[in-house]
Amino acid sequence: MAAEPTTRELRELVAEYEFERGHLIPALIEIQERYGYVSRVAIEVLARQMSTTPALVYGAVSFYADFRTEPPPEREIVWCSGPACRLLGGDRIREALQYTLDLPLDGQSEDGTYGLRLGQCNGTCSEAPQVWLDGEVVGNLTIAKAVTIARDVKGDA
Ligand code: FES
Repeated sequence: MAAEPTTRELRELVAEYEFERGHLIPALIEIQERYGYVSRVAIEVLARQMSTTPALVYGAVSFYADFRTEPPPEREIVWCSGPACRLLGGDRIREALQYTLDLPLDGQSEDGTYGLRLGQCNGTCSEAPQVWLDGEVVGNLTIAKAVTIARDVKGDA
């Protein structure tokens, strides 16, 4: 997990970005790629760089599901909420994951070791229903496979 970024590091990272040139989203992407999430400090630094308000920056962060405001867990299951996956039983798989992990969607364990996140279709629908386990597609899921994956992530395998 990446360390909490310092204000100085963040200022250097976003120094070339300008709001008028449509750089808000690219700047947020760079921050998240570097640190794994967009912290409160990052939002404040970026707002100052862009001569706008933290509320506006936070609005963009919260609008796009891919941005995080907390450090990511060590292991993560991303559940695909797209139509093909749901048509093929994705909601039952989500329920099994939530029950086994004892987490809500977009929740993570108190110690930060594992989490469950809402995802959007990434175009690999031929493998529906699916999740992304630590960034890798695990497709053609059954409820039994989903429970096995969740137990493994949780350390109960
Ligand atoms: S709907 Fe799940 S990958 Fe497309």
